[in-house]
Amino acid sequence: MEPVLEVQNLSIGIGSTGITENVSFSIEPGQIYGIVGESGCGKTITALSCLGMLPEPGGKLLQGRIFFKGEDIHSLKPERLRQIRGSEISMIFQEPTSALNPLLSIRKQLAELFEFHEFNGDPEERMDQVLRRVGFSDPERILSSYPHQLSGGMLQRVVIALALLLHPSLIIADEPTTALDVTVQAQIMELLVELQKEEGCAVLLITHNIGLIAQYADRVGVMYAGHMIEQRNVADFLRQPYHPYSQGLMSALPDVDERKELHPIPGQVPSAGDFPEGCRFRPRCKQAFAPCSQTVPEFEPEPNQKVCCFLYEEARV
Ligand SMILES: Nc1ncnc2c1ncn2[C@@H]1O[C@H](COP(=O)(O)OP(=O)(O)OP(=O)(O)O)[C@@H](O)[C@H]1O
Ligand code: SF4
Ligand SMILES: [Mg+2]
Repeated sequence: MEPVLEVQNLSIGIGSTGITENVSFSIEPGQIYGIVGESGCGKTITALSCLGMLPEPGGKLLQGRIFFKGEDIHSLKPERLRQIRGSEISMIFQEPTSALNPLLSIRKQLAELFEFHEFNGDPEERMDQVLRRVGFSDPERILSSYPHQLSGGMLQRVVIALALLLHPSLIIADEPTTALDVTVQAQIMELLVELQKEEGCAVLLITHNIGLIAQYADRVGVMYAGHMIEQRNVADFLRQPYHPYSQGLMSALPDVDERKELHPIPGQVPSAGDFPEGCRFRPRCKQAFAPCSQTVPEFEPEPNQKVCCFLYEEARV
């Protein structure tokens, strides 16, 4: 099956600083692919590049290609890219207010998508249907509201409705629940996953919360300091993460039932421009040894299970 999204060896810089390096992953149709990593590791930059967007000012595509259903995103004409954004790929951000214009009614903001993109059907009917589906029993009232009249949870439901309106093949959800109250977070994630299954679209779920990945994603990519260091099926990853950083992430995960002790990883993520040579986790890794100062290739200890760590040298692909 052709992947919906295929990112190949992506390196992005800002000015003369390398931010992400050699990031590769692909998402199958209908799959939820989670990217997890600490703040600043390059998750959002990677996500935005899938829409053909680079950081401003100074963002550069240093290397690599991104294919959306076989089309090379960074070589597309601006008009085709505009078509793709918002209809075939849609985005849900952390802060729902950033996705909505405070001066326009919800109706105007939903209706605008139909002005810019082709749609076979009745826009009014689709708006009503999607708003009901995200949990509003009175779509008319929501449509005539302005963003400031709705709560954070309601706004994120509106953003999900916007994202689904034109039946996208891929939704990029960048920390979609981080800004919401804890009680609302679970409802929004459940809703997103339920709708994703109904619509059959793929989701790129970006988060620093490994718990969300464990609960909702099919496959996980772990990022550390601009590198994709491990890619696994979630069930296998939860059973036994390969990379020492992933193992640290997992042991730092609170486990209320077992009252497991927390073991945060000592040390700090290096900043962009200050990355060590070779494995970027080396200064914090208890298992570091001589080869780790060289560039780490990708190893495949089991089919389709990837890790960048010299401890898996014998699994060289
Ligand atoms: N527009 C910009 N100009 C300069 N540096 C930037 C810009 N955007 C991001 N960066 C830097 O690039 C790196 C990666 O940023 P990115 O936003 O992708 O991280 P992230 O993994 O999404 O973090 P978070 O979990 O905090 O959202 C960071 O070091 C950040 O400071
Ligand atoms: S490559 Fe070396 S330093 Fe990096 S995680 Fe593996 S053992 Fe640790
Ligand atoms: Mg981010």
